[in-house]
Amino acid sequence: MKKFLFTIACMVAVLVARADEGMWLLPMLQKFNEDAMRNIGCRLSAEDIYNINHASLKDAIVQFGGGCTGEVISQNGLVSTNHHCGYASIQRLSTPEKNYLEDGFFAKSYAEEIPVPGLSVTFLKNMTDVTDQLAGLDEEAFDAKVDELKKASNEANPNCESWVMSFYNNNVWYLVVYKVYKDIRFVGAPPASMGKFGGETDNWMWPRHTCDFSLFRIYADENNEPAEYSENNKPYTPVKSLKISLKGVKEGDFTFIMGYPGRTQRFQTAAQLKNMVEINNLRVEARTIKQNVMWEAMEKDPVVRLKYANKYAGSANGWKKWQGEDLAFKKLNIIAREEAKEAELTKWINKKKSRKEAWGNAIGTIESFIEQNKVAYRNLILMSETIGNLDIMMKVAAPKRFREQDYDREVDYNITKAMMGFYLDKVDPQYKVNPEGWDLTKENYEEYVDWLYKEGNDEGVMQLLQALQTLANDNFKDIDSKDYEKATQDFAAALLKWKKGEPSYPDANFSMRLTYGTVKPYSPKDGVSYWYWCTANGILEKENPDDYEFRVPGKIHDMIVAKDYGRYADKDGQLHTCFLTNNDITGGNSGSPVLDADGNLIGLAFDGNWESMSSDVMFEPDLQRCINVDIRFVLWVVEKWGEAHNIINELEFVK
Ligand code: ARG
Repeated sequence: MKKFLFTIACMVAVLVARADEGMWLLPMLQKFNEDAMRNIGCRLSAEDIYNINHASLKDAIVQFGGGCTGEVISQNGLVSTNHHCGYASIQRLSTPEKNYLEDGFFAKSYAEEIPVPGLSVTFLKNMTDVTDQLAGLDEEAFDAKVDELKKASNEANPNCESWVMSFYNNNVWYLVVYKVYKDIRFVGAPPASMGKFGGETDNWMWPRHTCDFSLFRIYADENNEPAEYSENNKPYTPVKSLKISLKGVKEGDFTFIMGYPGRTQRFQTAAQLKNMVEINNLRVEARTIKQNVMWEAMEKDPVVRLKYANKYAGSANGWKKWQGEDLAFKKLNIIAREEAKEAELTKWINKKKSRKEAWGNAIGTIESFIEQNKVAYRNLILMSETIGNLDIMMKVAAPKRFREQDYDREVDYNITKAMMGFYLDKVDPQYKVNPEGWDLTKENYEEYVDWLYKEGNDEGVMQLLQALQTLANDNFKDIDSKDYEKATQDFAAALLKWKKGEPSYPDANFSMRLTYGTVKPYSPKDGVSYWYWCTANGILEKENPDDYEFRVPGKIHDMIVAKDYGRYADKDGQLHTCFLTNNDITGGNSGSPVLDADGNLIGLAFDGNWESMSSDVMFEPDLQRCINVDIRFVLWVVEKWGEAHNIINELEFVK
């Protein structure tokens, strides 16, 4: 009897998924997560969240641009996302005279909303597991079947796009149907001093006071369907829009987040992870130099600041993430823990005679492939981080795609000089680029760069581009990775079989996911505990007019001093800026809605915390937190700073 009870207890433990870890697939919610979500406070059913026949929450969530998430928050197609997600678009719409990035902007009517060429938002219609139809096919048959599936799906879903996406290292495939809207207009954003308050210093950090939001609107044709920009388009009427709760949060409250996490490495071996960290350290070195060149020029000249704002932010975000990742790997023993897991897995595989042959070598095959190609790969990354896609090459070779307004010849020249020096320092001789007529060395490269940037030397630029292409073709194209890919597939298959019965989720791959958990503080290190929200008082604590990253607009400063928070104040009378949850997110989730137990919007997810920067590889329950901007902080800025009552009036608040 005891034994029996014990078995049952184990089964229950296995069947109830962890509350915090997991980027869950929507079609699996009912099977894997619905009960566990209810157990910690959720009042919605799986069908309220994902239903392919009726309106459900997933219809309010969009992939924003290529790499972020947004959500529809009004019946007129208003979309909120992060400021750092709208950043590139806002920068492109800005000029030194009308600098929306620096000064902020709120449209007071539809007529004032600004079209953003090239920006799109994508709705998920449905996703269907098609593994049965694809598994085991050889390459040719596989491709043919994929085409067939897509074709049939496109016929069944007018105005939609269909894709077949791979999950679990090519062990599972889903057919995914999207609807893409292409007339997207900029509605509003706070000034950078709020939307990016704290800059790179506060990025990836808690405590936090960044008002990281921006607003856009979807426009559609007269049938509410996707259309290219046209004056005649009208605001899109959504299937579903989110309601907003101003009630705020307390510790333990249930929260969930839906969105489009980009990439994680939770099905990778220790060898892959080690290699990743080494490569990222090289990237950090290169970017440190590049960013210093940019920053110095940006600090001197506001015009350069605007031109390079987006390039700088993009570079710096990865740069800081990888530094934190390296530290976290060491502190949290990630490699050793991964190796221990692999040892356990190997023991299990070896016991399974039937499996041994297929899976026994996976870990070893991956390791030797990495070992063999390490130097080539490092040189490839070195090239791409330094001289592989210089602005001047874009300018000469792809003038149509090149944006003169994001370019300053002198800054570019200085970047290239610095990067070329670094490149020559690090490159292995057999991978060195050889532009025609030059044998580049550390002695002559400055002369080379001077020559390269001589006005009108398009030919020299083209020669460099050609030399880079030759280098890539000669050294990197022919690496045969078939066995390696098969091994990564086997590795994931073995892991899944080993943990059979446990709910599982695949690595992030830019498909829509849900993560659920609770509002929760954490302790960053021994003897220190962090509170789980911040207030506007912290903005004044951090304020420093002499530091670009910590300036506070005068009007904001005054309203904080006066505690002029209106209905956006918490019960405690303070304005809460950001709060922590233990939801499991990564890059791509930026802009995702943080939802309460009833599916009402309470915040936007925008960052992870410094102490758990290894989170893409391993979830850390005690340390890993999701940093969210409180929706009340967002709306306070819209209403009180932006005076955009038109926007407030189109929102629906829950009582
Ligand atoms: N760390 C955030 C993320 O990866 C991006 C923040 C952008 N802000 C910045 N200061 N670069 O989602």
